[in-house]
Amino acid sequence: MDRTAQLTARVTEREIAYDPPPTTSLHVRAARVLQTNWTGASTVPSRSLYPHQWSWDSAFIAIGLRHLSPLRAQTELETLLAAQWADGRVPHIVFHPSVPLDAYFPSPDFWRSSAAGRAAGAPRTVQTSGIVQPPVHALAAWLVHRADPGLSRARGFLARVYPRLAAWHRYLLHRRDLGGGGLVSVVHPWEQGMDNSPCWDAPLARVSPAPARSFRRADLAHGSPEDRPTDLDYGRYVRLAADYRDGEYADGGGEFAVEDPAFNALLIASEHALAEIARELGAPGTARHARAERLTAALVERLWDASYGMFLCRDLRGGGPVRERGVTGLVPLLLPGLPREVAAALVRTLRGTHFGLGTTTQLVPSYDLLGDAFDPHRYWRGPAWFNTSWLIERGLRAHGEGQLADGVRTAFLRTADSSGFAEYVDPHTGAACGAPAFGWTAALTLDLLHGEPGTNGRMDKGDSHDTLLSHSGGRTDEGGDR
Ligand code: SER
Repeated sequence: MDRTAQLTARVTEREIAYDPPPTTSLHVRAARVLQTNWTGASTVPSRSLYPHQWSWDSAFIAIGLRHLSPLRAQTELETLLAAQWADGRVPHIVFHPSVPLDAYFPSPDFWRSSAAGRAAGAPRTVQTSGIVQPPVHALAAWLVHRADPGLSRARGFLARVYPRLAAWHRYLLHRRDLGGGGLVSVVHPWEQGMDNSPCWDAPLARVSPAPARSFRRADLAHGSPEDRPTDLDYGRYVRLAADYRDGEYADGGGEFAVEDPAFNALLIASEHALAEIARELGAPGTARHARAERLTAALVERLWDASYGMFLCRDLRGGGPVRERGVTGLVPLLLPGLPREVAAALVRTLRGTHFGLGTTTQLVPSYDLLGDAFDPHRYWRGPAWFNTSWLIERGLRAHGEGQLADGVRTAFLRTADSSGFAEYVDPHTGAACGAPAFGWTAALTLDLLHGEPGTNGRMDKGDSHDTLLSHSGGRTDEGGDR
C-alpha cells in the first residue's frame, strides 16, 4: 500500500472506531472514550494498541476521570498500586489475564514477573512488567482526593495509598540514584515513556539488538509502521528488557542508565503532592517539601544547560549530556519552584524556532523541529502529545504566561476533538497519528474543560492551578511556609 492509501485506510478505521453523534459536546465525547476504555477496575490506554493497564497512563487518566467519577478515579490508582512489588516499584504494565497473550508484545510470558521478579518481590496473583514509568501517581492521588474529599475520607483513600506511594518514591530515590547525584535514572526507554525519542539514540546505539526473528511485534497490527518505532529500536528494547529480567530485575548493572528531566520533574511534583497528602493525614509535610526542593536543585545542577535554554538528558554510561532537544527538557516548567531565570529561558525556548509554540506550532512538538531526526509522525520523534502539552500548559500558567497557556489550551481542546482523541498528532497540521480514542487524551481534555478560565461554576473547588501546585513550590528565593 502506498502512503496515501495507508493514510486513507487509517482514517477510515478511525471513523469506524470513533463516530460520535455530531450534536454531542466535547465533554460527552471525551467521557465516552473513558467509558469505552474502562474495564471494571482500570482503564486501557487504547482498546486496540494497549489492551492492559499502563502506569503513567493510569495516573493521567485518573486526573481526568475524577471529574466524571471520583470513585472510579480512586479505583484506577488503587488497582495499579495493588500490583506494586515488595521493593516498592510500581510496574509499567499490569496485565489483564483475560487478554490473549498475542494481543500485546511483550506479554506476561516475556516478563515472567512472578518467577524472575521473585527476589524483588513481584506479586504472585497478578502478572506485570518489571520496569517502571514516570511517577505521576502521588500527584494524581492528591488531585483525585481534591475532587471529592468527603468520599476520599469516607473510603480512607489517602490513608490506604499513602504508604504505597511513599514506598514507590523510596524505591526510586534509593535504588535508582545510579549517578550518585540525587537524581533518579531510567534503565529502559519504555520507563521514561518517550520510547523512541532521539535523546535515546546515542545511549541505545551501544546496545546490540535482539534478532528480529526472536520476537513478534503486535503493535504493527494496530498502527501504521510510519507512526511507530522501527524494528531496530524494538530489537534494542527487547535486548535491554531481557537482560534486566535475566538479572532478576536487580538495579545498577545495566547497559542503559539515563537521568531524564521529565521523569525527575514528575517525581518532584509528586513528592510535593505526597507532602500535601501527609499533611491531610495529620503528619507534617515539611520534610518532603524540603526533599522536593533539594531534588529541584539537583535537577538544575545536573541537567540544566543554559546554552540550549533547556534541560538535557544525562547518559551515565556514555558519560555526559545528550545534546538533543526533546520535549522532556521542557517538562520541568511544571515546577513553580524553578529559579526565575531557568523558567524564563524555558519559555523563550518553547517560543523559539526549535519548538515554535504560538507561531509554527500550537501544541508542543516532542522533538526539535529543526533536528536532523525530526519526523512529524513517528511516535516521540516529532509529533505533539497531549500529556506533555497539558504539563507545559500547567507550567506556563504557574509562571505567569497566561496568554501562551490559553493558546495551548485552546489548541489542545480543538485538536483532541478534531483528531478523535488521537494518541498524538502531527505538530504542524494536527493530523491524527497512532491510536484513536486514546485514554489520556480524553482524560486531560476533561481536566482542561473543568478548569475553564472564567467559568467558576464548573471549576472544581481547590482544583485551580494555584491549588494544584502552589503548595508544591513557590520560588525558592521567596521563602514561604514550606
Ligand atoms: N510504549 C510502549 C509501547 O509502545 C510500551 O510501554 O508498547
